[in-house]
Amino acid sequence: MSPKDNKRTATYNQLEAGSKRATPIEHQHAAEIQPYGKVTRMPIALDEKVRAASVEGLNQLLADTMTLRDMYKKHHWQVAGHTSYQLHLLFDKHHGEQDELVDEIAERIQLLGGISLAMAADVAETTMIPRPPRGREEVPVQISRLLEAHELILKEARTMATEADDAGDAGTNDLLVSNVIRANELQVWFLAEHLADVPVVRADKGTAAAAGN
Ligand SMILES: [Fe+2]
Repeated sequence: MSPKDNKRTATYNQLEAGSKRATPIEHQHAAEIQPYGKVTRMPIALDEKVRAASVEGLNQLLADTMTLRDMYKKHHWQVAGHTSYQLHLLFDKHHGEQDELVDEIAERIQLLGGISLAMAADVAETTMIPRPPRGREEVPVQISRLLEAHELILKEARTMATEADDAGDAGTNDLLVSNVIRANELQVWFLAEHLADVPVVRADKGTAAAAGN
């Protein structure tokens, strides 16, 4: 074998080894590195008990926020009637804002050392928001459903914000007050105005006279 052949063989072997290392190793399975419900240590100067309590509450809020987000998309697709175009756009805007909240809540759970819920089946088992039917509903029913879901989320967010503040978890309190509560309150306002039973084109003079105006 000439020195030239040797060199060629070495290069070929290197190529073989190189391509083996670059080949994806598929179908890998192993035990979880952290079971759901367990909180790892995280050096953020917050007691484990405090972090565990925040994680538990935030996962409930996460499941409810994911459900509300998905309900907005359902209504975005299924909306009917003469206001359908405006509502189609409004529902999608709110869906996007709820999706941002989902990411913020989930990432706070992880940084507290917990595990955030992620999959639809787990969310369905956890949420407290009643499941809507698969079929289409009238606009007032869609909006009522959304308002009830918002109020459930706001109620739990307010309770959790107070608890987090009392426990010294200022970051969770800030997320709940500045992001979750503020965004949900604003969305409720835009939705609720659609259920005010006021004339759209012609003022109702009879009602004003009856009220003594
Ligand atoms: Fe769309």
